[in-house]
Amino acid sequence: MRCATFALGNRQYEHFCYMGRWMDARLAAYGATRLCALGEGDDDDNLEADFERWKATLWEALCPGGGEITCAPTPQFECKMLPKGANPNANPNANPNPKPKPKPKPKPKPKPKPKPNPNPKPA
Ligand SMILES: Cc1cc2nc3c(=O)[nH]c(=O)nc-3n(C[C@H](O)[C@H](O)[C@H](O)COP(=O)(O)O)c2cc1C
Repeated sequence: MRCATFALGNRQYEHFCYMGRWMDARLAAYGATRLCALGEGDDDDNLEADFERWKATLWEALCPGGGEITCAPTPQFECKMLPKGANPNANPNANPNPKPKPKPKPKPKPKPKPKPNPNPKPA
């Protein structure tokens, strides 16, 4: 997976851009490749200018030397909404609404053996 992260923050806060820094580090730890370095926007200064500077580094990575991007890149993943309570690790190709298995029919009870006649007819 390739990724690019821009963190929004304000240097007045003790944990400046913590969430974006965390996300950038986590993605890298899971093996993602950064398209460009983490961007950080400081609302105490000029968030928009920070973003524009970072955006230029992202475009350069996506389209080296400039030029126009005329088509959207082919997605490398697919997003699916899982029904509530679904197992996210289940086989993604499995039918999400499988038919319930029919209940096995109960075995027929064995017929009771006929009791010997207590008053047999005399021969
Ligand atoms: C423009 C803006 C920038 C912010 N930057 C940061 C930041 O860099 N670090 C941080 O911990 N919280 C930041 N925050 C605050 C969080 O978004 C969040 O509101 C806050 O952490 C919640 O706690 P509080 O209500 O006590 O401030 C920022 C909020 C705004 C509106």
